[in-house]
Amino acid sequence: MAKDQKIVLTADRPTGKLHLGHFVGSIQNRIKLQDESYRSFYMIADVQGLTDNADNPQKIRDSVIEVALDNLACGLDPKKTIMFIQSEIPEIAELTVFFLNLVTLARLKRNPTVKDEMKQKGFGENVPTGFLCYPVSQSADILFAKANLIPVGDDQLPVLEQANEIVDTFNRFYGETFDHIKNLVGDTPRLMGIDGNVKMSKSLNNAIYLSDTKEEISKKVMNMYTDPNHIHVEDKGKIEGNVVFTYLDIFDPDKKEVTELKKKYQQGGLGDVVIKKRLIEILENIISPIRDKRQELSKDRDAIMKILEDGTQKAREIAKETMVEVKKAMKINYF
Ligand code: TRP
Repeated sequence: MAKDQKIVLTADRPTGKLHLGHFVGSIQNRIKLQDESYRSFYMIADVQGLTDNADNPQKIRDSVIEVALDNLACGLDPKKTIMFIQSEIPEIAELTVFFLNLVTLARLKRNPTVKDEMKQKGFGENVPTGFLCYPVSQSADILFAKANLIPVGDDQLPVLEQANEIVDTFNRFYGETFDHIKNLVGDTPRLMGIDGNVKMSKSLNNAIYLSDTKEEISKKVMNMYTDPNHIHVEDKGKIEGNVVFTYLDIFDPDKKEVTELKKKYQQGGLGDVVIKKRLIEILENIISPIRDKRQELSKDRDAIMKILEDGTQKAREIAKETMVEVKKAMKINYF
């Protein structure tokens, strides 16, 4: 394989259905890249999902099929992308154990992604060790497949940086084995939540899901944060921090019209309901084909599991090859 050939790998934690933030952050890129790359992987990160849900295995189990459905409905194609389940590849766990020797506790605690998430979840010193170490296992997720291009949301960049440090240390200790990985952040690296929070997230309860009905979308858009001082139609409105305009900028294909609407809104004379109705139509146009395909695919859950089983088998073969190389490099190839 030529060194510059793209091997793409992405993953979702199966902790619930996926939302528009996932769509613009990484799903769109993974769909595009499956046509352009030498090899493409999509992993359902159930082991990582368990790092902060150890007490709720049913949630993880139920979400595996949901995230698979979301991705297939968006256009991920199992003929082009190897779709697999993390826990079914024991080599990832094995590689994680070896990588743990290459990373210090201080470095993990300094990782900005881990730090933010620990704060958000209120873990403090009582953080589960598996959670603290997830950047290490995420490095194994990527490197077992020798993936070199990783589409992610921008919150994941520090994790990928740490993966490259693991590559450097591994190569220094045991000889050139892994190449550096590159990230690919979507056009919208971070989508604002419907409440105006900087990040759309299930746990913040501010998400629009790829499976939402038109009624759900309408309700959420109608409740969107706009400008609290824009009370009457004739009032001058603010664009900054206004979720409806933030979304129109991202999702409305008619950029010229958005510029006009912004002008009108700022001058006064444009009501929230008008722009909200416009946004509902635009989001419905994006989500309805996904929702319909999802609905269709969900009728045959066995077929989805079969896709994952076949993909897992392929990924496992690749994992075994990598581990032969890794163990040889580490001088733990005994028999
Ligand atoms: N941590 C990622 C997220 O929360 C999911 C993930 C797990 C991942 N393993 C990965 C992403 C490997 C890219 C590559 O979105």
